[in-house]
Amino acid sequence: ASDPSNSVALLAWYDRHARRLPWRIGPQRRRDGERPDPYRVWLSEIMLQQTTVAAVGPYFDRFVTRWPGVADLAAAETDHVMQEWAGLGYYSRARNLKRCAEIVASEHGGRFPETSDELATLPGIGPYTAAAIAAIAFDEPAPVVDGNVERVVTRLYRIETPLPKAKTEVRARVAGITPETRPGCFAQAMMDLGATICTPKRPTCALCPVNESCAAHAEGDPERFPVKAPK
Ligand code: ADE
Repeated sequence: ASDPSNSVALLAWYDRHARRLPWRIGPQRRRDGERPDPYRVWLSEIMLQQTTVAAVGPYFDRFVTRWPGVADLAAAETDHVMQEWAGLGYYSRARNLKRCAEIVASEHGGRFPETSDELATLPGIGPYTAAAIAAIAFDEPAPVVDGNVERVVTRLYRIETPLPKAKTEVRARVAGITPETRPGCFAQAMMDLGATICTPKRPTCALCPVNESCAAHAEGDPERFPVKAPK
């Protein structure tokens, strides 16, 4: 919130360059304030916890075709869910997915709770995933920090503290720049920036929408960040 021009530039970049991923909605509808389906956001975030965007795509499509809503997944046979999950790994995610769907269907009237605090009480939803779902599906300005965002933020502010110790500072920085408007787009824009421009090696700073306010770009040493603790 203390950095409005930066988030404006980042959101404008996102409207043009966002990755077209199956759980997202189109740029025009995003700008109009339309929100994605919480079921699809939740499902994608669980799948993305330990799996890459590229690997998740086909699994996500098969799941939403077979079980279009949370009630459908709640009513499914657990064996069928496990079979459809086969290949994604970390199978406790699939068991928690099924349990979570059952709780949302039976205890929440088939609708996901809308705050990160409530979401974090559900099986399989930790603090990171709760923040991501609340921001993307419900416009809660929750700080969303994954590995990509850590890299972007440690460069923006040239944070010399090594990871993982720097996580508290990174989180505070993200909380400080997350806008009240379109926080879910902001979160996904930070992830996309980290995945496509602010890459670990040879970041393409010339194309970055926030390069003018990046401390590491100003010093010419973005690849030095995030600093890692000596082994
Ligand atoms: N990784 C985790 N959540 C993501 C999202 N919503 N978009 C892209 N990558 C992600």
